[in-house]
Amino acid sequence: MATVFSGVQPSGDFHLGNYLGAFRNWVAAQHDNDAYFCVVDLHALTLEIDPAELRRRTLESAVLLLAVGLDPEVVTLFVQSHVPEHTRLAWLLECTASYGELSRMTQFKEKSAGSESVRAGLFTYPVLMAADILLYQVDEVPVGDDQRQHLELTRDLAIRFNRRYGETFRVPRASIPAVGARVMDLQHPESKMSKSVDSPLGTVRILDEPAVIERKIKRAVTDPGTTVEHDRERKPGVSNLLELLSAATGVPPAEVAARYHAYGPLKQDVADAVVAMLSPVRQRAAELQSDLGEVERILAAGAARAHEVASATYARAAEAVGLLP
Ligand code: TRP
Repeated sequence: MATVFSGVQPSGDFHLGNYLGAFRNWVAAQHDNDAYFCVVDLHALTLEIDPAELRRRTLESAVLLLAVGLDPEVVTLFVQSHVPEHTRLAWLLECTASYGELSRMTQFKEKSAGSESVRAGLFTYPVLMAADILLYQVDEVPVGDDQRQHLELTRDLAIRFNRRYGETFRVPRASIPAVGARVMDLQHPESKMSKSVDSPLGTVRILDEPAVIERKIKRAVTDPGTTVEHDRERKPGVSNLLELLSAATGVPPAEVAARYHAYGPLKQDVADAVVAMLSPVRQRAAELQSDLGEVERILAAGAARAHEVASATYARAAEAVGLLP
């Protein structure tokens, strides 16, 4: 069994792109891997965030991961700050990483551009991410394109640490998301559906009410002409709808396309399929929200399990660099 680790930002605002591109695959693979899912609350502190908001979103993110179907008996679901070894190992790795290589991180450059005050934690963010991963002797990290450079850094740090201090960490590899559906914005089908883009009508949130989902899909931008074809270049809007229907039903997009001769019926079926796919998730989320004590117990049990592995790795790393036991 491969050990897999995923970090989830406590954004709370998860959408259809997260569901089809990531969460659904994690759930499908949960029995085949030894999987860790970590809500990375410490990473959220690298940018300005209201404390009450951070608390709310951290818990909400855990609720959502459970609602999509991750089984806490099968996977280890926990909150990053509950396992103190993450920050402890981050320090050892900060003393392994160089200022120069962190300066080259493109996400740091993007996130810091234009701000007059940049938190030091934003600069060392990728090192904390490396600690997240290396603590669990991970084989695979399913990441999107935007995290590839951070994963390369993680590998470099593991290799450098092992060479300098002796074999301590398993060197992880990035795993390419399995046929990850690439869900595009419903209003701007040339760009990916994303929480950071201000497109409320273009983004279907996982917990949107069915009527809201239906309205957003019915208002989706289509393309000139009236024919239903799967052609990303010429018909990005329609192709996105076809791919959504395909992702929700398992029928290939071209085959789906052949069944429609007008946009209206296609939109109706996409809306119905997406609502049907997400309603069990909404229902489970509502149940969990009405019993947050249970969610907290699940997170505490997850942290205890994570801590067993993390503390063993940390102890090895600390001893390797010469800290007194
Ligand atoms: N940086 C990741 C993101 O923004 C989140 C993250 C933190 C992560 N630690 C991780 C992802 C460890 C994978 C593994 O999405």
